[in-house]
Amino acid sequence: MLYSIIVSAGLENIAREELSERFGNTEHLKILERKPQRLIFQYTGNPRELLSLRTAEHLFLVLKQMPKMTRSRSSLASLSGSLKRFNFKEMSECCRQVGINIRKRMPFRVTSRLSGKRNFRRIDLQRVIEQALLARGWYLTAGRAALEVWTEIHGDDGYISVKLSRNDMAQRPYKQAHIPASLKPTVAYSMVRLSRPHPTDVFLDAMCGAGTILLERALMGRYDYLIGGDVSVDALDATVMNFGRKHQPRQFFQWDARKLPLQRDTVDKVVCNLPFGETIGNLPQLTNLYRHCLKEYARVLKPRGKMVLLTSQRTTLNDELERLHFLDVRQRLTVDVRGKKAWIYVVRFA
Ligand SMILES: C[S@@+](CC[C@H](N)C(=O)[O-])C[C@H]1O[C@@H](n2cnc3c(N)ncnc32)[C@H](O)[C@@H]1O
Repeated sequence: MLYSIIVSAGLENIAREELSERFGNTEHLKILERKPQRLIFQYTGNPRELLSLRTAEHLFLVLKQMPKMTRSRSSLASLSGSLKRFNFKEMSECCRQVGINIRKRMPFRVTSRLSGKRNFRRIDLQRVIEQALLARGWYLTAGRAALEVWTEIHGDDGYISVKLSRNDMAQRPYKQAHIPASLKPTVAYSMVRLSRPHPTDVFLDAMCGAGTILLERALMGRYDYLIGGDVSVDALDATVMNFGRKHQPRQFFQWDARKLPLQRDTVDKVVCNLPFGETIGNLPQLTNLYRHCLKEYARVLKPRGKMVLLTSQRTTLNDELERLHFLDVRQRLTVDVRGKKAWIYVVRFA
């Protein structure tokens, strides 16, 4: 069966790594294509297993992938025509495995997406697919649809897919308490992955907010110790609530990350979502924060330690990293965070 996952922009390679690592050596998986925000792959196992992917926002079963879509309206006809004699048997089985029951008169809804110049509109695309499925006896509903059909045309590629994941695939049950600038768990997970977790890790997030990064690390496998801190009591309360009694040993502190009460050379990994500047109003204050907390991170980090930092303030972070010439940026990824361009830096001692 052909599947696709949708990921946040910039996380495609990390998602590919996760897929290969978790399913690649079972001979069930073959990754076919990596597109912007999308991976397409064949998988012969139970699709329910794919719902546990931690980088994915949505999981789809691809019914039809059509290359060579043109601008003209005839490409609409070929896309909808492909549904005329389509055999839905395999789709039904696949849906059943993830808990979607297929009925003869299936209530459905179509979501359409279109990019690039075309001689038709997004709504035209949606309507032809709706008509094709109505002609197969399905039942169009404006309410809660049992089946969400997605039809998309991006560049030369057309897709008709069925959504297998629920809207909460990228959410995590641990996240009960939130703070305003809280990070998406999929991005937090990706940052933790970039730190190359190891069972002996002493792991620090010195501006932990609601604890998303620390929790993603805790869930990723063994560690030696987790340390979190934040200047805000509300943020720390959220972290404590989200952790509950699980994931020991760990310790949380209310502190100023510019002056950490930790010994030098004691931490293996620092993973931190730096404030973007929305809460810290002016640039001199933000520069001061970045300068002093970077110095502290470098001080507490062991010589072979690693930092993974997220910011939207690329210039400020570049300037401050340059001042600390003993640090070396090994990797820099452009990612999308709440619709804003941001960067993940992987930093080591030079
Ligand atoms: C972008 S948020 C982190 C969000 C977090 N990754 C999450 O998912 O909830 C930045 C955090 O830095 C904290 N912060 C700002 N200045 C700080 C400082 N000087 N020391 C410690 N924490 C600070 C804020 O209180 C906020 O919780």
